[in-house]
Amino acid sequence: MKIKILTLFPNMYNGFLSESIIKRAIDKNLVEFEIIDYRKYSNDKHNHVDDTPCGGGAGMVIRCDVIDRALKDNTNNNTYKILLTPQGNVFNQKIAFDLSKKDEIVLICGHYEGFDERIRSYVDSEISIGDFVLTGGEIPAMAISDSIVRLLDDVIKEDSFMDDSFSNGLLEYPQYTRPIEYNGMKVPDVLLSGDHKKIENYRLKESLRKTYLRRKDLIDKKELSKEEKKLLDEIKKEESI
Ligand SMILES: C[S@@+](CC[C@H](N)C(=O)[O-])C[C@H]1O[C@@H](n2cnc3c(N)ncnc32)[C@H](O)[C@@H]1O
Repeated sequence: MKIKILTLFPNMYNGFLSESIIKRAIDKNLVEFEIIDYRKYSNDKHNHVDDTPCGGGAGMVIRCDVIDRALKDNTNNNTYKILLTPQGNVFNQKIAFDLSKKDEIVLICGHYEGFDERIRSYVDSEISIGDFVLTGGEIPAMAISDSIVRLLDDVIKEDSFMDDSFSNGLLEYPQYTRPIEYNGMKVPDVLLSGDHKKIENYRLKESLRKTYLRRKDLIDKKELSKEEKKLLDEIKKEESI
């Protein structure tokens, strides 16, 4: 897969691309990143890519002709074009999964006041990473590409993400490691029992419990199996809800 990022601040990616799982995926040729500076597509000698807002007001707006030239030079019919904006669809694990199946995506970062509205007609989708406003699209582009890369074949073991929160519509069950007892808090006995069936049941039940107590909206959306419904009834009794 190829991920291209259009940005005014390419240096922000130096650390992101040179550490941990992202670096390993690049080194193993499982993903290719290309960071593209908008300034390359400026048409004035001072490399300006933005201008003041029409109608007045604070800040600068990235010009649509600059972004359009950058898109024309860096995309083909196969490239899925994503505009990063707090006004877009809110990102989630399902979108990450769908994007991980694309051959090539381009993430378009705004900065300052954002970009000229007309650029919206050149993109395939608009994504927000949540209901808050950041200074630019660079961190959203990192967050989105990070969540995609870990879903690509051979980047991490598939069972590492199949149980992750949101993958099956639930939050993940609680995880523990050594020490077995810490400040009076003990790892649940069942996890030390070596009984795989019991561990599986415990994890499903605790995953349901966590989701029910913290994110009931996810439970309401999920089609529960017979077994999950039974476990949920037990949880409601145990929690006296
Ligand atoms: C300061 S923001 C502009 C916000 C814009 N004036 C508005 O109110 O919708 C600058 C850029 O940061 C990026 N950005 C900020 N918050 C974001 C979010 N929650 N999700 C995705 N991108 C975001 C976008 O690319 C945006 O164009």
